[in-house]
Amino acid sequence: MVKPWLLLPSKFAHDISPFFLNLYSKISKPKNYEWDSVNWRGLQFSNPLGIAGGVDKNAENINAWQSFGAGFIEVGTITPTPQGPNPGSIIKRYNKQKTLWNKMGFPNKGMENAYKNLKQSNNKNHTPIFGNIGKNRQTPLDKAHEDYIKVMDKINNLVDVFVVNISSPNTANLRNLFDQSYLTQFLKPIIDHNNLKLGKKNPTLLKLSPDLTKEQLALILDTSLDLDIDGWIISNTTTDRSLAPQAPTAGGVSGQPLAQASRNLLKLCSEHLSGKKGDRLLISCGGVLTPSDVYDRLNLGADLVQVYSALVFEGPFFFKKTANSKT
Ligand SMILES: Cc1cc2nc3c(=O)[nH]c(=O)nc-3n(C[C@H](O)[C@H](O)[C@H](O)COP(=O)(O)O)c2cc1C
Repeated sequence: MVKPWLLLPSKFAHDISPFFLNLYSKISKPKNYEWDSVNWRGLQFSNPLGIAGGVDKNAENINAWQSFGAGFIEVGTITPTPQGPNPGSIIKRYNKQKTLWNKMGFPNKGMENAYKNLKQSNNKNHTPIFGNIGKNRQTPLDKAHEDYIKVMDKINNLVDVFVVNISSPNTANLRNLFDQSYLTQFLKPIIDHNNLKLGKKNPTLLKLSPDLTKEQLALILDTSLDLDIDGWIISNTTTDRSLAPQAPTAGGVSGQPLAQASRNLLKLCSEHLSGKKGDRLLISCGGVLTPSDVYDRLNLGADLVQVYSALVFEGPFFFKKTANSKT
């Protein structure tokens, strides 16, 4: 298949893609590719392959992703107020190595805009919608939970699952919220708010970093289990440049170089959670670039799988390609 977008500069291709996605949604109906369907706590996933955080930051392309047959759609990262990207170059693509690098820093139009877009999207085929939430750049870490709660309050009735994102390397010190000194103090008010004030309409997932040590991972899983989290997404981008020496030092790397780390982390999580996982959700994300990668992650214990880089290097028909390779 010809992929003309891979000939364009990465930032330009990134900026014009919503236009073409929306055009496609005007000419094509929503699809339900049914393979390995999942029913999780009443949510029906016609297939276990969805789009990852950052693909549809402002919930502007929900109808398009339905037309391409995504099994679920994560929107965001959404912050309370609008904010621009980090200064300087924010995205690079390395076609041969199937690698993406980004230093975006949650550029998004804020929760009011996401609310409006979510409300307008007519979720015709009832694809589960996940709302990925972050904090504004200037919000201090000890007040970070307030930002997450504001966005939860705003989008509660328009999404099916919340994703608490503290694993982006592009918001200064955000990953410090995984430290033992912060995690409970940060996560408990969020989970309490969801349970007590919002009546737990939506389950809450925590998106993890691939750069955690085995000990950190165990501590985070146990702490979040104690707080009764509903699942985890494994993982965000990596800062490990031994995996992608060609990428700039700041920022996060996705795609091929992340595959092994993300796969290993999934295995570690599955092992650590064995016997304690219950019906909690485990989502694998990172370096999934072929249909066989999707099945591999499911075989390793993932309940669902997400992609970002595959949509860039393989194109948005990746959902169809994966569904077809199953039949
Ligand atoms: C350009 C770009 C922007 C991203 N923005 C976000 C984001 O806003 N929120 C988030 O949770 N993850 C974000 N991610 C991380 C992806 O959701 C995913 O975790 C990561 O890219 C690994 O998956 P992949 O190898 O399939 O790309 C972004 C990734 C890229 C490449």
